[in-house]
Amino acid sequence: MNRKYRKPFIAGNWKMNMKPSQVKAYMDELKTLVPRAKWCEVAICAPFTDLPALVKAVREPHFAAGAQNMSKFLSGAYTGEVSGDMLTDLGVKYVIIGHSERRQYFGETDELVNEKVLAALNLGLHPIVCIGESLEQREKGLTAELVTYQLKAAISGVPAERLRRVTIAYEPIWAIGTGRTATAEQAGEVCSLIRAVIRSMYGARIARGVVIQYGGSMNDANAAELLAQPDIDGGLIGGASLEPEKFAAIISAANQE
Ligand code: PGA
Repeated sequence: MNRKYRKPFIAGNWKMNMKPSQVKAYMDELKTLVPRAKWCEVAICAPFTDLPALVKAVREPHFAAGAQNMSKFLSGAYTGEVSGDMLTDLGVKYVIIGHSERRQYFGETDELVNEKVLAALNLGLHPIVCIGESLEQREKGLTAELVTYQLKAAISGVPAERLRRVTIAYEPIWAIGTGRTATAEQAGEVCSLIRAVIRSMYGARIARGVVIQYGGSMNDANAAELLAQPDIDGGLIGGASLEPEKFAAIISAANQE
């Protein structure tokens, strides 16, 4: 983290877990554990059905609700889709775009990810854009190339003044939900590369303001070490965000003056 230029940002990704009826109890517990996250930004990215309850429960500064996906379309005959406009109308601030599970199981391409990022920014949302390599790609030494390609594709056409609203989440696929975290050095190295690519596209001033998260089996035990890397500004937390105690400990690791 470099607090001079960026505010740490911890986001939970509940994935397809937690029912609307469970949201309030979770938030009540989290708020007792973390009464004020003053020095970092916190978000929970929940299933669509949980969002009304979540928005109601998070009414706090530095705390926001996020979705896990959105349509590239604004409105119309797209059965089953949810538009970004519907999210903002509800009071949702963040939206995860291009999570590897969406790329893997729902066929999301780099092109679609880019269309969604542009649509989210047009609506005033703050996209959390996920990129990351598979184990096979890492073993073949393709990590840098792949991550650079995914990043450039995802933010293609984003003007500099809008990049401030974009968070990049580096999530190596082999570390997601596997208990196998990238070492702090491995994660830090790729996050530095991501910032270097942004620098080459937008210049140093813009690049140093972009928040870059690490995601993939980040938990209460490894958060502090990962966050100590200069270019890791926060985390996108799956499994550990389902337990208020663990999530609170991760927030506390980032919530330092
Ligand atoms: P994990 O998931 O923390 O359960 O590995 C992270 C993510 O997929 O965003």
